[in-house]
Amino acid sequence: MEKIRLGLIGCGGRMQAHIHSFEQMDNVAVVAVADPVEQRRNAAAERFGCQRIYADHRAFFEKESRETLDAVIIAIEPTAHKGVEEAAIDRDLPFLVEKPMTLDVHQAEEIARRVEEKGLVTAVGFQDRYLDLMDMIKAELPRHKAGGLVYGAWVGGIPGVWWWQKKTDCGGQLVEQNIHLLDGLRYLYGEPLSVYATCSRGIVEPGKDGVSPEYDTDDHSTVVLRFENNVTATLVSGCYTQGVRPNCGLVITLNDMIIDYRLRNNLILRTAHETRDIDRQVDQTLLLDQAFVEAVRTGNPAGVRSPYGDALKSLKVGFAANESMETGKVIYF
Ligand SMILES: NC(=O)c1ccc[n+]([C@@H]2O[C@H](COP(=O)([O-])OP(=O)(O)OC[C@H]3O[C@@H](n4cnc5c(N)ncnc54)[C@H](O)[C@@H]3O)[C@@H](O)[C@H]2O)c1
Repeated sequence: MEKIRLGLIGCGGRMQAHIHSFEQMDNVAVVAVADPVEQRRNAAAERFGCQRIYADHRAFFEKESRETLDAVIIAIEPTAHKGVEEAAIDRDLPFLVEKPMTLDVHQAEEIARRVEEKGLVTAVGFQDRYLDLMDMIKAELPRHKAGGLVYGAWVGGIPGVWWWQKKTDCGGQLVEQNIHLLDGLRYLYGEPLSVYATCSRGIVEPGKDGVSPEYDTDDHSTVVLRFENNVTATLVSGCYTQGVRPNCGLVITLNDMIIDYRLRNNLILRTAHETRDIDRQVDQTLLLDQAFVEAVRTGNPAGVRSPYGDALKSLKVGFAANESMETGKVIYF
């Protein structure tokens, strides 16, 4: 079997999970890598015995093309998307890009338009869509009366990446991190009708405990999303706790069942008569990577659960929530 030739752009934290996938897949060959940090790009290249090593995406795309590669994997910080996907599109290269795909909605819209126009295979790193637990929730919901309350939470400490320190660099916790649960809600309930959000600062102190003096990412935010069929979801995000964290995930209160999804770990289904506790069995990032590679191999994108155009809808809801945090207004879609 011909191997799918991959190039990696960005060899930081998240790319390590993709590298772990590709090491397990015998139908791919990582043949090119790029990262401005020498130690990171060399370490990634070494994992695959790869010889084509570049200092950034510009040097990468000066040499790489559809002749030398079959697809590109992009995992760079949210503000580093400066011509990366565009260069892949110019060269007709399918790409998998990590969320949030950019903080510039106009750029994302143009990328989505060009991807659609060219019929390029794309995937976005919404790994939770590939979870067996998410499949079970999706299958369970229609067995009950529609409607109800959904409470979602992603609360913990401050992530270690430098670009978290400023909201203009990371997009805020909802757009950067809790967009996974936001996208999960869209996956389960369809497009939201409206969003309202608040945010708060004052717990994390800029300049203290290793936090940058310029730190301005919100401590926490609360988002209320209305969906069709009388579903209302509240999504809380927090990045201020130290050494403690509440349960994260989604709690869905149906008329006769509580669905308690513990983030990427287990799913508790509770009725008046029984409680079932089901552990996650799959590596969802591996499934995401396999789905993308299979789509590239066959040209059939059916297995990709979050192509760029769909992921853009989640990104836009995140941006609308940020707008609501700033203006105090409800945004209707
Ligand atoms: N899907 C998920 O579950 C998940 C998990 C973690 C992070 N992410 C996302 O992945 C992205 C990267 O996060 P991370 O934690 O890996 O950050 P990171 O800072 O650890 O790594 C980003 C890397 O990109 C490199 N880079 C920047 N500009 C580049 C360029 N022009 N060309 C090549 N390389 C470049 C940086 O030097 C760095 O090594 C973010 O958007 C983040 O939200 C997704």
